[in-house]
Amino acid sequence: MDSLRDWLDKVEAMGELVRVSEPVDWDQEAGAISYLAGKTKGNPAVLFENVKGYPAEAGQLLWNALESPSRVALTAGADPAGSVLDIIREVKNRLRNRIPPVTIEPTAAPIYANVLTGDDINLLELPAPKHWPLDGGRYLGTADAVITRDPDSGYLNCGTYRMMVHDSKRIGLYLSPGKDARLHIARAWKRGESLQVAAVMGAEPSIFMLSTLALPHDVSEYEYMGGLRGRPVELVEGATTELLIPAHAELVVEGVIHPDATEMEGPFGEFTGYYGRPEATCPVIEVTSIMRRTRPIIMNALMSDNPLTYSAIARSAGVWNDLETMGVPGVKGVWHPSPSRGLVVVSIEQQYAGHAAQVLALAAQSASGAYFAKWFVVVDHDVDPTDNVQVQWAMGTRCNPVEDIDILRQTWSSWLDPTQNPPEERPYGSKALINACMEHRHLPVFSKRTRMTREMYDKVSARWSTLGFDGPVPQVYAFEDGQAAGGAVLHESEGVKTK
Ligand SMILES: Cc1cc2nc3c(=O)[nH]c(=O)nc-3n(C[C@H](O)[C@H](O)[C@H](O)COP(=O)(O)O)c2cc1C
Repeated sequence: MDSLRDWLDKVEAMGELVRVSEPVDWDQEAGAISYLAGKTKGNPAVLFENVKGYPAEAGQLLWNALESPSRVALTAGADPAGSVLDIIREVKNRLRNRIPPVTIEPTAAPIYANVLTGDDINLLELPAPKHWPLDGGRYLGTADAVITRDPDSGYLNCGTYRMMVHDSKRIGLYLSPGKDARLHIARAWKRGESLQVAAVMGAEPSIFMLSTLALPHDVSEYEYMGGLRGRPVELVEGATTELLIPAHAELVVEGVIHPDATEMEGPFGEFTGYYGRPEATCPVIEVTSIMRRTRPIIMNALMSDNPLTYSAIARSAGVWNDLETMGVPGVKGVWHPSPSRGLVVVSIEQQYAGHAAQVLALAAQSASGAYFAKWFVVVDHDVDPTDNVQVQWAMGTRCNPVEDIDILRQTWSSWLDPTQNPPEERPYGSKALINACMEHRHLPVFSKRTRMTREMYDKVSARWSTLGFDGPVPQVYAFEDGQAAGGAVLHESEGVKTK
């Protein structure tokens, strides 16, 4: 499954694709339909095959591609029927399998089907959508992967950054402080050099999903993508840059950012569900080629108060992987939900006094958790971190705010945060660390929680449908096992599966 087309065929077979063949307007209408689709059961992927005012060959618009856990599972090689925590665990495990990419010849690369350079370059021929009424322009890149090379180390980075079309040959790049491409540009500009860029606007979705994740700076994201897929990503050298691009991509825009080249950009309805900073200057790319397949499928990401499922799963796996990489034992699950990316919940099997505080401090400054997130909660491993009700229950019963909350100040954030008012050029955030675990020193005497025995669960499960209930028996996260402590041992080692 190297291409977005193969991936979409699988999604269609799963019954999770809506093809819209009627003409749909690029101006807010596609965005509005996607927003409403995001509120329907199953949150299907939506493919607009016919964009008003554009010939069919100009391209198709795909939205909501990774907005269901099952489609994320398909992308990550996990079980689509698994729980969200199962899928997060699989992604986390696969982040360990790094597989280097392979490079193929342009003649074998579908992205070389059409290559436009020089006077033939016209970004306005592509059906870039305007997402929301107050957006400052049309965005060709939102679910993209922007490839740049670190001028110092030479590693290729893939990052998802929004891209607003300025005119037929120039496109902007919005980069929050500290993001890799921003650091690459700053270093190149400091030497008075230009930086090459290749923006992938449609490709097999693991490329997009991992581009949204903060991964170590000394390994290319392409290696993680190979690990996630279980085989190498096929790359090809760009037509006008020395950058390596996915050979099976749908649409790639290549170009150069010249020293100090900026242009007013935005505003844009952002991941917070707000407009963050107003229109301001951003680096601008002089386009040197448009490479595309026939009728390219352009991927889009609508930012709103709907959940960004792929982002939540990828970031949760990222924080979990970061904690394990730092040698923290006993992590049983992580949930870093979107929209807003405000919350991170980590469940642990407490192993020593101070373990919970260690997890909070490290999660809050980990590569995947440090940016923007404000609330870090640690819970015991009898609590499913993806279950809001369970987490609130733990916060209400195991946290004593006067003792169990710490604040980190002057942390990594963004001017997109609506609480940064007015938005500052060098914004800081802050983080609350909330310990909602049973106090380690009192574990032996902590109040016992109410829970059924495994035996009773199995007995009721066997009778479930005959009792008159539809659907599967709900999962239970913890069983009574006779232990004195309030609930320190799960029925199974990983803690989520109960049957
Ligand atoms: C759909 C989507 C759009 C995003 N757009 C931007 C953006 O416009 N600018 C930005 O700095 N980060 C954006 N992000 C966040 C970055 O993709 C994320 O921080 C990622 O780690 C950046 O890659 P890097 O760590 O290699 O810099 C976006 C994330 C998502 C999920």
